[in-house]
Amino acid sequence: MASLVQFSREGTVGVLCIDNPPVNALSPETIAALSAAFAEFEAAPELVALAVYCAGRTFVAGGDISSFERPDFSAKPYNALLARIEACTRPVVAALHGTVLGGGLELAMACHYRVAHPATRLGLPEVNLGLIPGSLGTQRLPRLVGASLALNMMLNGTMVNVAQAESSGLVDAVSELSPKDAAISAAAAHADSTREIRRASKLPAPTPGPDFFVAAAAEASKHAAYPARQAIVRTLKAAVELPFSEGEQVEAAEFDALRNSAESLALRHLFFAERETTKVPGASKLASQRRITRVAVVGIGDRCQTVVTSLLKASVPTTLVAPDGVSLQRELEQVRNALLTGCSKDDARFSKIEKMMSNLRGSVSLADVGDCELLVEAIHESIDLKQEMCSRLGEAAQDGAIVATASVFADIDVLARASGRPQDFVGLHFVHLQGKGKLLEVVRGANTNPETLAAVLRLASGLGRTPIVAGNSYGFIIYRMMDVYLREVDALLVEGATPSQIDGVVEGFGFPVGPCRMLDLIGLDVEAKAVCARRASGLFPADSSYRVVVQRLASLENLGQKTGRGYYRYRGREHADSVSLNSLLEQVAGEFGIQRRSEIPEEEISERLLYSVVNEGARILEEGAAYRSSDIDVAWMVGVGFPDYRGGPMFMAEQRGLSHVIDRLKQYGASRGDEHGYWTPAPLLESLATQGRRFKDWQFSVA
Ligand code: COA
Repeated sequence: MASLVQFSREGTVGVLCIDNPPVNALSPETIAALSAAFAEFEAAPELVALAVYCAGRTFVAGGDISSFERPDFSAKPYNALLARIEACTRPVVAALHGTVLGGGLELAMACHYRVAHPATRLGLPEVNLGLIPGSLGTQRLPRLVGASLALNMMLNGTMVNVAQAESSGLVDAVSELSPKDAAISAAAAHADSTREIRRASKLPAPTPGPDFFVAAAAEASKHAAYPARQAIVRTLKAAVELPFSEGEQVEAAEFDALRNSAESLALRHLFFAERETTKVPGASKLASQRRITRVAVVGIGDRCQTVVTSLLKASVPTTLVAPDGVSLQRELEQVRNALLTGCSKDDARFSKIEKMMSNLRGSVSLADVGDCELLVEAIHESIDLKQEMCSRLGEAAQDGAIVATASVFADIDVLARASGRPQDFVGLHFVHLQGKGKLLEVVRGANTNPETLAAVLRLASGLGRTPIVAGNSYGFIIYRMMDVYLREVDALLVEGATPSQIDGVVEGFGFPVGPCRMLDLIGLDVEAKAVCARRASGLFPADSSYRVVVQRLASLENLGQKTGRGYYRYRGREHADSVSLNSLLEQVAGEFGIQRRSEIPEEEISERLLYSVVNEGARILEEGAAYRSSDIDVAWMVGVGFPDYRGGPMFMAEQRGLSHVIDRLKQYGASRGDEHGYWTPAPLLESLATQGRRFKDWQFSVA
């Protein structure tokens, strides 16, 4: 195995190269190798300066995040090494390129001089992982760039570019040379210079104005669920008010506490989980060669427009095929209107939208889709019509092209067979809920080729969407899990909870919007239609009270915000509990013999909503309808707004203990009755809990 850090000589300059692909993250082994290489330089007094650079695409992009989980993790060896580097009496120069982040920037700041490639970006993004910089970044950065920029970089996790870094004193020079050449030539120049060596820890601390920390603490407290933000302010205050060595101790204590915090564990879990989502078991390297350069979308209506606008926003040439000239004109107009939403003619975005529209070609004939590598049917939800369309698309498509359906509920395998190319068939569900980002469920049929999936996942990333691979089960991942969540919402309402109580619990947990407000926003007609579609599919539980409230509200034309009445009643955007809903709930309770309670504990609301979701997630996993539990976590975080500092439903369940979740499910089964199996723990949950294993120990095996 190649050495993680190489030490060499270039004339009288020592050269130290860190080489730990892909991003030169600092694992304990890399730190040990760095320390050993630096010792070689220390032991060679004939060398006049040291040049430090990294191989590959970037300078060190941070500490190895996975190493924070290791029981033997300690920041001390690295901090001691940085102190040795800074104390060196011969100039040490770092040449920076790529993304110089976290422990990488801390290394750069411990060096005496920094030269950067013009495209370099620098930052201390630990806050995004629920952490603070742990290797004196909180102490050296403010001494180098001042309190204000240091606060901004650490609190928001934002990177600065080279111009900002140079003007603030974070880098000393800019060079277009290769990192190696830049490092060596700058080190040689500094060795010859008579300038005194500059050590960041010895620079005077900044002296911000009297209100600086009051304002900083107020800013940090805006997001109380992220304790790292307040810790950043405290460590910055230590940098300003205390000697460097005491500031170091403050930082170490804060870092250690945060490293083991629930929030940081959750955010670190999601960091890797998000990167896992694009990995397709069984996909070969060939996958990377398959490109989607033009897409055809066939259909009309909202879903069709969503697909087309997503493609155009990402500058993907698109052919929109409508059934006739009139509907084509209408669709083109609606796509333009959707892109133009909130944009006036003199707005700078206007010309960009014109450019996006120039990527759109309209047609009324499938003869025009032969040059597309992906063909998406987005016609109305009718399985017969969809089968016919998929068959026609399969015939019209070029060899090797992928056919997809944008259906939310159709059986993917039925459509895949109809297309005549089941190996090149997928479902694409553009999720529109209240999540943090934009989710795309990519649905895998029984015969979908891994390379097909990989190509679509790459396109999804290009569209700025987080892709999640789902299996072909009803509602895929998100709607299937949402269904049990919303089932409990209706059940709790009938039993005596109010919409504001339920939303209060859910929003208190950290979701941006509770389920009742969410459904009122989406429209209860849309939701009731989905419930009816599921009933028609024959997959409805044999439970006549199942999600009855949403159906009754829809049948009364109480459709949510748009009609001024739904789960709430509205005056403008203001909402209040609705008396008529209460009468409806009493009536439903009477009809189904359900005992209403005057008080439902918040814990029960929270557990019934969330543990039902976990249980369904476990069923999805055991069926192989998701590759990994972390995909489900990402789907809920990105798609539905599950708070990232809780890591997603499956991660949360593990943190609370799978046995605890099982106990609570069984308890609700005992108190509520379990006629329909709602509270029966999924076998996977039971087996993992019994064996003391985690979800990630369970791997879906690709047939
Ligand atoms: N520790 C461990 N692994 C890391 C890492 C880190 N600090 N930073 C990146 N990686 C890994 C990723 O997990 C990914 O691995 P994979 O290919 O096996 O999935 C790989 O490096 C590439 O990362 P990715 O994010 O896919 O590449 P990118 O080019 O889009 O972005 C970065 C590169 C460095 C900007 C981005 O990875 C990042 O922001 N990393 C975290 C930086 C950070 O927080 N540093 C401080 C840590 S305390």
